[in-house]
Amino acid sequence: MATVSDAFYDRAGEFVGVLLPAVWQGMDAALTGALSGLDAGDDPIVDVGAGTGIGTAVIAAAVPGAEIIAVEPHRGLRTALLARIGGDDALRERVTVLDADLLAAPLPERISALVAMNVIGHFPPPDRRDVWALLAQRLTPQGRAVLNLYPPASPQHVPATAMADVRIGRLRYTGTAAAEPAGDDAITWTMTYRVVDDGHTRTEFSATDHWYVFGPEQLAAELAEYDLHVTPGNPAHGIQVITR
Ligand SMILES: C[S@@+](CC[C@H](N)C(=O)[O-])C[C@H]1O[C@@H](n2cnc3c(N)ncnc32)[C@H](O)[C@@H]1O
Repeated sequence: MATVSDAFYDRAGEFVGVLLPAVWQGMDAALTGALSGLDAGDDPIVDVGAGTGIGTAVIAAAVPGAEIIAVEPHRGLRTALLARIGGDDALRERVTVLDADLLAAPLPERISALVAMNVIGHFPPPDRRDVWALLAQRLTPQGRAVLNLYPPASPQHVPATAMADVRIGRLRYTGTAAAEPAGDDAITWTMTYRVVDDGHTRTEFSATDHWYVFGPEQLAAELAEYDLHVTPGNPAHGIQVITR
């Protein structure tokens, strides 16, 4: 099922693969902390928008033995995800990859956790409410959901900010992220990506993506309508832990 962000990931996918690991530095420990003590039992953990699977591997290490369902609708990113999972004997035993939008995915009736890292802004507000309804319906009594919110929490101008700078062989992969308001509940991110070869820019292009913005207070208010509660986790990474 196509998502509105497919065009963005069609263009940016390879850079997402190269530059996201830097975003995960420290976020891996924050997610591990948020999942600490979870008893998954026989009920799987859903990794929403698993991307290339960095977070999937973090979940697998954080909750040993738990089954994981990694939902990734974008074919390019799913290719990288399958390569990561398929190339690791332990992950291959435990992780199922679904080529679906979360809200159309054939999920089991009970899930022990749902993880949505760097994803929730992709969901328009009505779909986001459907995600909360999904949690209310399927989360086990002791289950939890973990997601992250990052600034801005309202539509605002974000000046161009440098992303990671990663060298692979003779080439460097880098870029900037900037945003402009897009209506009263969203921003348009403009990511400019660059491949640099010995000081000379070899490739440069920009890709835009629509991203819905909201803060912890709005999250708490929306969740309350579904009898769900939120507790802030590691503030450095905007982690939010949702329980019944
Ligand atoms: C910025 S990436 C984050 C990937 C991964 N969670 C990580 O942090 O490394 C956002 C991901 O969300 C996925 N996505 C977008 N809309 C989705 C939806 N409706 N259901 C499931 N995944 C979605 C995209 O395809 C993309 O892989």
